Amino acid sequence: MSAKRLFFSLMPEEGIRDQIVEIAKSFPTVKGVRPTPNNNLHVTLLFLGDVEENAFKYLEKKVVQTFIQSFKMRLDLYGYFRRSKTIWIGCSSYPNELIRLVNHLKSIGTQCGVNYDDQPTKPHITLFRKVPTAEFPSVPFSITWRVSEFHLIESITSENLTRYNKIATYRLMEE
Ligand code: 2AM
Repeated sequence: MSAKRLFFSLMPEEGIRDQIVEIAKSFPTVKGVRPTPNNNLHVTLLFLGDVEENAFKYLEKKVVQTFIQSFKMRLDLYGYFRRSKTIWIGCSSYPNELIRLVNHLKSIGTQCGVNYDDQPTKPHITLFRKVPTAEFPSVPFSITWRVSEFHLIESITSENLTRYNKIATYRLMEE
């Protein structure tokens, strides 16, 4: 049976994505390090890993009913994960709805028998990978992102290039 490498994610729409791209441009350049391609910028809500087709069809249907409201998220934090050597941006304070959404997806993942990655990581947008040391721009930033939907994404890697394919889009409840 075929499996897909899946994760739930927030994908910024064009206006927000443009602001994130500008932030990435304001970082000091590091030789050999390229920013995340614009179309790949995202926040992972839950990384599911390889999911068999049966579990995936069940999961896709289960998620449809979300009773979580749309929310505003303020991106205002620079960060660095030492282990993966990634530079990211995130929130100094996460909205409750975002945390509820992640917990909701975890509970659906469990109900569908998906062995998801339960490592506690902060929701973030990876800007650069394989950066030996972190240097951030000296100026602070603030992007207010109104989040009204999320996606189930398939990650496809070939010849060292990763492409994200939207499999399903789910609307949050209007405020
Ligand atoms: P990252 O951006 O911090 O690398 C697709 O791989 C997305 O899922 C990436 O955003 C990645 O986070 C995230 N992710 C979380 N846990 C992962 C894992 N165990 N393996 C691969 N990607 C993971």
